[in-house]
Amino acid sequence: MVKVITYGTYDMLHYGHIRLLERAKALGDYLIVGVTSDDYDKTRGKINNQQPLMERIAAVEATGIADEIIVEEYEGQKIDDIRRLGVDIFTVGSDWKGYFDYLNEYCKVIYLPRTEGVSSSEVRAERRKLRIGLVGTAVFRTKFINESKYVNGVDIAGIFATHRGDEPEVQDLFYTDKYAELLERVDAVYIISKPEKHYKHTKQALEAGKHVLCESPIAYTREECQELYALATEKNLILMDAIKTAYSTAYERLLLMAKGGKIGKVVSVDAVCTSLRDGISIEGTDLSKKWNSMCGWAPAAMLPVFQIFGTDYKAKVFYTKFQDKKENIDAFTKIDFVYPSGVATVKVAKGAKAEGELVIAGTKGYIYVPAPWWKTDYFEVRYENAEENKRFFYQLDGEGIRYEIVAFAKAVESGRNMSYVSEHISEAIAGVIEDFNDRKDMIELE
Ligand code: CTP
Repeated sequence: MVKVITYGTYDMLHYGHIRLLERAKALGDYLIVGVTSDDYDKTRGKINNQQPLMERIAAVEATGIADEIIVEEYEGQKIDDIRRLGVDIFTVGSDWKGYFDYLNEYCKVIYLPRTEGVSSSEVRAERRKLRIGLVGTAVFRTKFINESKYVNGVDIAGIFATHRGDEPEVQDLFYTDKYAELLERVDAVYIISKPEKHYKHTKQALEAGKHVLCESPIAYTREECQELYALATEKNLILMDAIKTAYSTAYERLLLMAKGGKIGKVVSVDAVCTSLRDGISIEGTDLSKKWNSMCGWAPAAMLPVFQIFGTDYKAKVFYTKFQDKKENIDAFTKIDFVYPSGVATVKVAKGAKAEGELVIAGTKGYIYVPAPWWKTDYFEVRYENAEENKRFFYQLDGEGIRYEIVAFAKAVESGRNMSYVSEHISEAIAGVIEDFNDRKDMIELE
């Protein structure tokens, strides 16, 4: 019996795939099809699959051509499969010509001519693109523009801001200083205006029937935040809190480990986020244009606290050193949260520097994420007995922004909220910012 193996993603199965499978089968008596796992595709930079693994497997199965289906999960697996399954022939389309010659050592390698004129990328591209408008001038908008280029099916359609800005990335985009004009041309907006304007900009967009991805905090008060989510629900629109860290694979995994009991019961979470780059402490800086440390960093720093302990804390205290109290600019803020079974500390600063690490302590061990933890691809689970320590690495593309855009686009397309930051966490974040602005529970440092 001649065993043949072939691999692919088989997203939105098309006749090019079917023709390949038929010809692969004809090369022998038994056909094994390896379908790539979602994680493996993510690490290869294929982040735009429309269908999850199970659906792609079901589609290949439904062709009735494969005798066996396996999942391809890691780099180098092919050699393993070929040996283990006693494969005689490895085959793929000619788009891979030469790439798999190294497998000749283990079996025969055959490249089959690719069917002209069809590919999953084209099938995906035929769907109308999601037109996203940018609102505001925050510096990280250029990262968003660049990351959006990796995501199929989205298009940056223009900018609304008081001025266009000097970055080369924005020069060719449609620009307007009238919000209504931008809203007319887009399906959705990404809001990066100053935090005090988030509520107004989000509300206006939702009222105009546009989906919203908004930098955290979405509003300056808990009540306003709730109102916006209710409005989005009423209008069947997607409203997502843009905390990119939530979309980093390493962060997602360490969260699951912490919640899954890997370090016992969690007793404390300590998250530090600082940077001096924004220059708020430089003499003569126009602070009215700056985000304070709380809005710039605290939403990301509070994310692990709320995702692990929940949002129902018993007490909290801010320790704040203001740079300019009138402009509400804090150079440094530490927040202590007290929960029934644990405590958490968040330290954020734009006018002070500290090690930007995350430590989650439990009754059996702890999770350590080195700086800068909010865009990490690596963490360690550590125990008393160091021999049991484990290190974990995960691919991170575009600091999480790329995956965040994918989640947003998929949510808009499917009408289901796919945010990794749940509504009650967004609301709790807005609530903390509200208390900070009201100087509630605050001890001021000189
Ligand atoms: N294939 C083919 N003819 C096509 C498209 C794909 O013969 N028109 C083959 C590929 O060479 C590969 C297999 O089908 O051996 C699975 O391809 P996959 O990577 O899933 O599909 P593509 O349509 O090429 O996907 P994409 O556009 O996302 O790269």
